[in-house]
Amino acid sequence: MPRGHFITLEGLDGSGKTTQIKRLAAWLERRGTVPVVTRQPGGTATGDRIRALALDSRSAGLAPLTEMALMFADRAQAIAEVIEPALAAGKTVLCDRFTDSTEAYQGGGRELGSEIVLELHRLLCGNLQPDLTLLLLPSLEASLRRARRRNERAIAESGTDESRFEQEKDAFYSRVWAKYKEIAEREPERVVLIAGDLTIDEVHEQIVEAVAERLIAAAIQGDVALIGHGWFNRAIAQSLSRRGWRSSRRTFGSGPWSFIALHERKP
Ligand code: TYD
Repeated sequence: MPRGHFITLEGLDGSGKTTQIKRLAAWLERRGTVPVVTRQPGGTATGDRIRALALDSRSAGLAPLTEMALMFADRAQAIAEVIEPALAAGKTVLCDRFTDSTEAYQGGGRELGSEIVLELHRLLCGNLQPDLTLLLLPSLEASLRRARRRNERAIAESGTDESRFEQEKDAFYSRVWAKYKEIAEREPERVVLIAGDLTIDEVHEQIVEAVAERLIAAAIQGDVALIGHGWFNRAIAQSLSRRGWRSSRRTFGSGPWSFIALHERKP
């Protein structure tokens, strides 16, 4: 059984990650892959309790190191209980936030630095790396505007629950933003930066294209990529043709796999 793909979504509060992860999951499902969707903090029974502790505004005065330790406790549990078993079973895992969030928020925002976060990731998470990270990062000004708008709404609606991060100031979010940018520049192979002021549909298009590219890369064998009919879609054809590949649609036999898209590298 080949190992599944591990895809994470990252971005500041109010960046639209949650909407995009739902749309990406639906897109994958329409193509025959039902992903395991999870989030951090949370995603397990233990994780939900850690989430409540870490995000509740009543946890005021939580030391930055405590906050980071909670995030890693949550993550270690999620890896053991949800992520590793799913990947081992060949499933695609979509995770709303992962260690990049800890590096951006605790490493950058709380100024603990990257080194300690990456070291803890090695020690507690077996250094598990996503195959692909989609980072939604509009300009700093737009990000701050959205985070502020979202914070006002959250405080008005909930008053207490989950509003601890929502009470942070612009300087904090500016540091989070800068750290995300740094991560994207450091690891361009893994992190696809989706920047600019884009509509929900435009962001979705870019996400789908990035995901299709990674899945194609996994499907390519030598000069040929054979992709089942479920995978024959515009995004894949477009991205292969940009690489100079020729695509054709063939019919083999009958049944669900009767349509096969054959992509060949042009001579
Ligand atoms: P999330 O539920 O993803 O909120 P949002 O919908 O705003 O993206 O995350 C909750 C908060 O937890 C968010 O403000 C970021 C913070 N966080 C950290 O500070 N460190 C971490 O490692 C993670 C996973 C989240």
